Amino acid sequence: MKPIVAPSILAADFANLESEVKMINDSAADWIHVDIMDGVFVPNLSMGIPVVKAIKKHATKPLDVHLMIVNPERYVEAFHDAGASVISVHIEASPHLHRTIQQIRAMGIKAGVAINPHTGVDQLEDIIGDIDLVCMMSVNPGFGGQKFIENTYKKVERLKSMIMRTGSKAQIEIDGGVNLQNAKSLVNAGADVLVAGNFVFSSSNPKEVIAQLKDLK
Ligand code: DX5
Ligand code: ZN
Repeated sequence: MKPIVAPSILAADFANLESEVKMINDSAADWIHVDIMDGVFVPNLSMGIPVVKAIKKHATKPLDVHLMIVNPERYVEAFHDAGASVISVHIEASPHLHRTIQQIRAMGIKAGVAINPHTGVDQLEDIIGDIDLVCMMSVNPGFGGQKFIENTYKKVERLKSMIMRTGSKAQIEIDGGVNLQNAKSLVNAGADVLVAGNFVFSSSNPKEVIAQLKDLK
C-alpha cells in the first residue's frame, strides 16, 4: 500500500515559500506538514498563524498542522481558520485531551494526537477510538534534520495492533528522520503517513524524492 506523503515545510526555504509550496503542489505529495513550535513545549520557535495563512493561499493540498505548543486548545480554532485540514496536538501538552479532540472534530477537520519518543502507545488506549491520526514522533520534537530513533518500529507495531483490536480508524503518521532507508520498514510495520523534511528539501531534486517515498520499492 502506498503511504500518504507529507513533506514538512519546516525544511523549506522560507524566503521562497510560494515556490516551495508550488513544488509540493506539483509533486506526488498528499499533504503539507506544518510544524508550529512555541519555544516552551519545545526548545525552538518556528512559524505562526500568518505564515500558515500564506502557505494556504498557494497550497492545493491539505495542510497537516502539528502543534508543538502548550495548551493547544487556545489556538486550534485559529489554525482551523488559517486553513488546517488536520490538527495534531501533543498528549504531553494537553491537560484535557479528549475535550480538545472534540473541539477539533466539531470544526469538521481531522484530529490527531502526537506522542513524544518516550510516551508509550498504551497511553492512547482510551482516546484511540476518538481520533483520526496518531503523529508518532521518531525524533524529539523541536528541530528538523535529526536522526531517526530505531525504537519507533516497535511502537508502530504496538499501535497498529491496538488500532486493529479496537476497530479505530486512526492513521499512523511517522514524524522525524524519515528517509528511503527506513520508509519501507515503517510502512510494513503499519505506518500510513510519512512526514519528511530534510530528506526532501536537502535533495537537489525534491520532487523525485517525494515520488520515491510515495512509490516505495
Ligand atoms: C520535528 C518536526 C518534524 C520535522 C521533520 O519537531 O515535528 O515535522 O520537520 O523533519 P525531518 O524529516 O528533517 O526530521
Ligand atoms: Zn512535525
